[in-house]
Amino acid sequence: MAAWRMVATMALAAAVAGCTMATGGPSVLQKLPTSQADLSAAARDRWFPAADMMRIGVYYYPESWPETQWARDIDNIKSLHMEFVHLGEFAWTFLEPEEGKFDFSWLDRVVKLCADRGLKVVLCTPSAAPPVWLSKNHPEVLMVDATGRTMEHGTRQQGNWSSPLYRAYVQRIDEKLAEHYGNNPAVWGWQIDNELSHYGKEPSFDPDSQASFRRWLEAKYGTIDALNRDWGDAFWSQRYQNFSQIRLPNAKELVAQVNQHAILDSQRWFADEAADYLRMQADALRTGVGHRQWVTTNFMHDFAAVDPTRSAKDLDLATLTIYPAHGNLNEGPLGFRMGSAATMSFAHDFFRNINGIGGVMELQPGQVNWGDVNPQPYPGAVHMWLMRGFAAGDSLACTYRFRETLTGPEQYHYGLVGTDGVTPSTGGQQYRQAAEEIEKLRTLRQPNAAIPAEYAARRTAFLYNFENRWDIDNHKQNVAWDTYAHMLKLYSGLKRAGAPVDVLAEDKNWEKYPFVVAPAYQLVDEKLVNRWKAYVEGGGNLVLTCRTGEKDRRGWLWEGPWAMPILDLIGAEIAFYDTLPAPNVGHVKTDKGTYGWASWGEILTPGEGTTTLATHADQYYAGRPAAVTRKLGRGTVTYIGVDSQDGGLEADLLQDVFARAGVKTQQFAEGFMVDWRDGFWIATNFSDKAQAAPTAGAPLIFGDAEVPPAGVTVWQAR
Ligand code: GAL
Repeated sequence: MAAWRMVATMALAAAVAGCTMATGGPSVLQKLPTSQADLSAAARDRWFPAADMMRIGVYYYPESWPETQWARDIDNIKSLHMEFVHLGEFAWTFLEPEEGKFDFSWLDRVVKLCADRGLKVVLCTPSAAPPVWLSKNHPEVLMVDATGRTMEHGTRQQGNWSSPLYRAYVQRIDEKLAEHYGNNPAVWGWQIDNELSHYGKEPSFDPDSQASFRRWLEAKYGTIDALNRDWGDAFWSQRYQNFSQIRLPNAKELVAQVNQHAILDSQRWFADEAADYLRMQADALRTGVGHRQWVTTNFMHDFAAVDPTRSAKDLDLATLTIYPAHGNLNEGPLGFRMGSAATMSFAHDFFRNINGIGGVMELQPGQVNWGDVNPQPYPGAVHMWLMRGFAAGDSLACTYRFRETLTGPEQYHYGLVGTDGVTPSTGGQQYRQAAEEIEKLRTLRQPNAAIPAEYAARRTAFLYNFENRWDIDNHKQNVAWDTYAHMLKLYSGLKRAGAPVDVLAEDKNWEKYPFVVAPAYQLVDEKLVNRWKAYVEGGGNLVLTCRTGEKDRRGWLWEGPWAMPILDLIGAEIAFYDTLPAPNVGHVKTDKGTYGWASWGEILTPGEGTTTLATHADQYYAGRPAAVTRKLGRGTVTYIGVDSQDGGLEADLLQDVFARAGVKTQQFAEGFMVDWRDGFWIATNFSDKAQAAPTAGAPLIFGDAEVPPAGVTVWQAR
């Protein structure tokens, strides 16, 4: 029995003395399957039959509307061709209106209205929005921010996941819900919590979190001497005498720089804590739902503090939330209305690979209300976003939300219907259009369609490890550097070449792909470098970029040449790196053109047998190599030492990697993507200009051969 669970069970027993509801005991949990690994392929096929391809649904908050309108609203959801309804997400105050008194009758009535109309239901655990009685009776369940203030009731995500007592309350309501709905055939699956985070205020600095961090450190290091060594604590008298002296690193209580290794460990601890909290909830749900219904959570697509890959074994699928157009992302002239193709597509390709099932749990249906500026999406963009998820192979897409609210913090946020509650918004009309199109595609689908050979030849694994991103961003060395943006430049280059990409955690089998790209992979160990080497020697084509291999997994630089462990692999030394303060821009040249850079540029010294692909065109090191390639065994390694400003260098060098391997590519414009699924080609255009769909004369199912901005064209592969 986990320590927190024992404490929690005792604490809750004391806190709820007199309450008639029993908490699920550990003996029950032990008998049930608790991990995704136990899941049979048959269960997956039952939830997500291949023939359905992608199902579309919508969030509905019946608790916010008069019951007299529920049947009408659900009729209207059905008439928009939605196939499932997402319910109960923040409804704890209605599900447990008083401590220990549960009321699911209202939700039963809504579930029945859905079931009667053939709509599936996705239910949620309500842990993102604790009721006021809980916070007032037990303020210790509330998180504490970096300044030491305890957060208050009145919004959401104030619950503290490290509090054994909070966990016990969450576990109890989850088990109650699971027991009540676990055999209801209308219930398709479950979402745990919502966008697990404290919306930028994480981590919590309360005593339970501090204690949890210390336990985590003790389990990792065993002795304080080992911790002092790995954290480099000899400097500045940082040495600790025992674990009890350690606090979560908090810039608000530290005078100078935060210890690099302490902060990295605290990020690892936080991500592990989040995963542990999700595991606790998944286990609680499984006590009632077994594997009759699926279990997921909805991660914010670009939120780096919570690492979805740590939950792969606990969830049946990982879903994402994405709001592409909120005025803050101005990629290209129309980016503020369409968002970024690379950002969205990368998210699909990452989340789908966590468990092999992809899904978007939240997607905006129109204007949102929380950006700095909240523009209208470009006409057609909502439909295009849905079809990009479809193109990426997703199994479900859900939109946030059905009705535009009249009250509260989400006023001005569009829904599928407007403020009158009944008239479809432009987004609502586009949802219906996408749903109808998918209905048609189901009728045209050929179950045995094989992936076209030319497309399959470009299959690329893209390695992503959150710990690299944390460690680089903790110490960027140039404020202009952005690890995520750097990754997206490589990703975008791959999509411009028309490659199908799987974004994979390191522990997956990426060796089976003809191409592997690992950008800015700062933390490495011998095992990984040996895997890379064996992959290349066996015929793989590996692309590494700047900042790779600079440190070991502890975050130490090497006692040797810069990036020592990868030098044999890339066939070059890294003489030094440079960073340029604005407004300076450096340039590198290839045989295709000249590219600007400022955030990070390495100056390479190639060894024998290594070919220079790009050279610096200015600065005092003009003429020296910036990117190189070599053959090794049966494969190739390419090293791109510069982060170009617009990703053009990376895109052009990736084209050459494919060409040297004899693989034919596409030359798509930035933002134009074409992917294959289930026998269909789907082109989506996030750019501001019309783009030609590579149909090779095939008859079109939807759209035009010239794909306009925000357009979608679908044709059947021959
Ligand atoms: C999401 C959140 C939803 C809703 C939405 C509004 O980030 O998960 O609950 O607030 O934003 O756009």
